Amino acid sequence: MRYICDPTYPRLSESNFVKVMQQLTELENDIVGMDKEPFISDVPERFAEEELASHWAVDGNVESFNRLINYIEVKTNFKPYFESALTHIPWDSLGEDLVIADIGSGVGWTSALISRMPQVRKVYSIEPGRARARRIQYIAKHFGLNNRQVEWINGSFENFNLPEKVDYVILCASFHHCVDTLQKSLFENIVSNSRRSKVGVLVANEHYVTTVWTLNRMKSYYLKENAASRKQLCWGPGQWREPSPRDNEHHRIKRECDRIFEGNGFNATYYIHPGDLCKNKSPLKTRLMWRYYHAVLERKEI
Ligand SMILES: C[S@@+](CC[C@H](N)C(=O)[O-])C[C@H]1O[C@@H](n2cnc3c(N)ncnc32)[C@H](O)[C@@H]1O
Repeated sequence: MRYICDPTYPRLSESNFVKVMQQLTELENDIVGMDKEPFISDVPERFAEEELASHWAVDGNVESFNRLINYIEVKTNFKPYFESALTHIPWDSLGEDLVIADIGSGVGWTSALISRMPQVRKVYSIEPGRARARRIQYIAKHFGLNNRQVEWINGSFENFNLPEKVDYVILCASFHHCVDTLQKSLFENIVSNSRRSKVGVLVANEHYVTTVWTLNRMKSYYLKENAASRKQLCWGPGQWREPSPRDNEHHRIKRECDRIFEGNGFNATYYIHPGDLCKNKSPLKTRLMWRYYHAVLERKEI
């Protein structure tokens, strides 16, 4: 299989990589305490101990890394949209030697990309899902980083404490997994872990849905589902966009996103992407029902 990859990644040769990974494996428990530390229980069922799709299951093998890159760069718009979002962070006003928090970081490819930026000293990669968290150091290694540049934190939206205050916070494709009742503690945690009074947050690779999306859901409820299958749904009349209890995935409309950002004291500037983040829908369907965006949030003066 051939993959299209960015040739600028400073990859290790396979033999050097295996050596580094052996050392890392020996050190792993001491470094991150990954298998000793009880994982926090806040994570939704889907992420608690999931079997990862092969494109996320990166290990010491170069081929596994190529599979990830192919997925985020070619099969989906994850990487191009995230990179475009990164350009809207106010880097000039932030300066140098930056510490960044990446909340709901998954396997850590976003933490690694952020960490490669010259003005960034450290990324705290906050991820409560065990299966995903185990991949973070492998991916950091493939990107030519070490565990001091990207450090895994066993935490969640509602429960994280960082060893030091951060200069900026990033949520990539994780905001829509944070239920409304946890948004207040998420933003309180962000503020209390930030060193600047003008707290800045990038919400990247996100979506909100349109009225057509909701109409389409109503149509499928009445025309496609039957009495038995309706009982299995977590949504229905009056609750058309209810989150799934399995992974808390939301289908918010823009007004609801606005309300969350404003209600937690942030001004949001939205940037809408022209296409489909996941590249799995027709252009017409995407245009009618979905908006993929990133938003730069800045805490209002108090
Ligand atoms: C769609 S994935 C995005 C992962 C990664 N940021 C990326 O862009 O590939 C959503 C992530 O949110 C994390 N997540 C779910 N519930 C969470 C919670 N309560 N606190 C923190 N992260 C959570 C999941 O474990 C998962 O890694």
